[in-house]
Amino acid sequence: MADQKISLQTTVGGIALGCCIYNASGPRTAIAEQLRAIGRTEAGAVLSKSATPEPRAGNGSPRYKEVMLGDGSTGSINSEGLPNKGIDYYISEATVDMITKGMSTPKPYFISLSGLSLEDNLKMYQKLENASDKIKAVELNLACPNVPGKPIMAYDFDELDRVLTAFTKSPAFQIRPLGVKLPPYFDMPHFEKVASILNKYPIKFVVCTNTIGNGLIVDPVKEEALIAPKGGFGGLAGIFVKQTALANVRKFSSLLNDSIDVVGAGGVNSGIDAFELILCGAKAVQVGTAHRKEGPVCFNRISSELRQIMAQKGYSSIEEFRGKLNAPGKGRKDQSPIKLSTKKKNDSVISLIPFPYIVIAVLLLIIAILILK
Ligand code: DHB
Repeated sequence: MADQKISLQTTVGGIALGCCIYNASGPRTAIAEQLRAIGRTEAGAVLSKSATPEPRAGNGSPRYKEVMLGDGSTGSINSEGLPNKGIDYYISEATVDMITKGMSTPKPYFISLSGLSLEDNLKMYQKLENASDKIKAVELNLACPNVPGKPIMAYDFDELDRVLTAFTKSPAFQIRPLGVKLPPYFDMPHFEKVASILNKYPIKFVVCTNTIGNGLIVDPVKEEALIAPKGGFGGLAGIFVKQTALANVRKFSSLLNDSIDVVGAGGVNSGIDAFELILCGAKAVQVGTAHRKEGPVCFNRISSELRQIMAQKGYSSIEEFRGKLNAPGKGRKDQSPIKLSTKKKNDSVISLIPFPYIVIAVLLLIIAILILK
């Protein structure tokens, strides 16, 4: 199947995305220039850094570290403590214009909110009532593990209920779709309890999942923790969270009302990772650690890899395989191993330079060599 025939289109909370791959809130999302750079790639949406009512410097350094595993996969630990420029910056006309006017194709801009209390979150949400209509959805992050002294909100089920009651009653709720970013859950009664709370409210999507909170990575040579804040405790991401993300997407896809979309996040570094999350039910897939490591070109690479996989498997849209994970022995028997041809990082940089300029540069070089002879 030719690549052009393959569509990565989807919807999240009723908002159309030209591509089901976009950024997670966090890495490279703090300033308008970084958000604009995402908008210039194939990413299907642009999501801001989680905002607080006022700007924050965040925790002390080192507050982010990557570790490479033997198989070349990357895990990470972070405890940045919500460094961000404050809600007014992310919803200002100047920021919205810079991001949306720089886009390669029109795509939605989403705002992430992560106040330290319900009052903080409601205060920011109220500001969104009269904000630009180019802001298409709100992702309420109830899963940040990294503010010293503050718990992960969505692990307190009564608090989750209170937050959703207050948010769905706010006049801002009428303006644009609301989604909730969840922490990972690990126990079946917890999945069921959380789903029963979420299903009471007309929210439009959930994001599964944030980092695995309060992990600890140790350097045995130096006999020290990798990061400084909170005694070395921080959110585990990248490869450390991938299987947990798959499980959370799968479980919430089966437990939530059909009106609530599930967006996958956690350990997406390749088209295969994205494919697996969609197979578990994700309508879209966010990329965090790989975006931080590789930069915004990761959205083009992962989208291209996902398209290649779909071509090999004969799928032309993600709905053809979304949520259709099989039990062992019940899957497809007609498939050979997945093959990906991925451009090297430098190739994709070169491919950003339009072809005619490369031809002109080569001709000028030949002329210069002839003259100098
Ligand atoms: C931070 C980490 C998170 O996992 C999150 O959801 C929000 C903020 C941080 O440390 O900045």
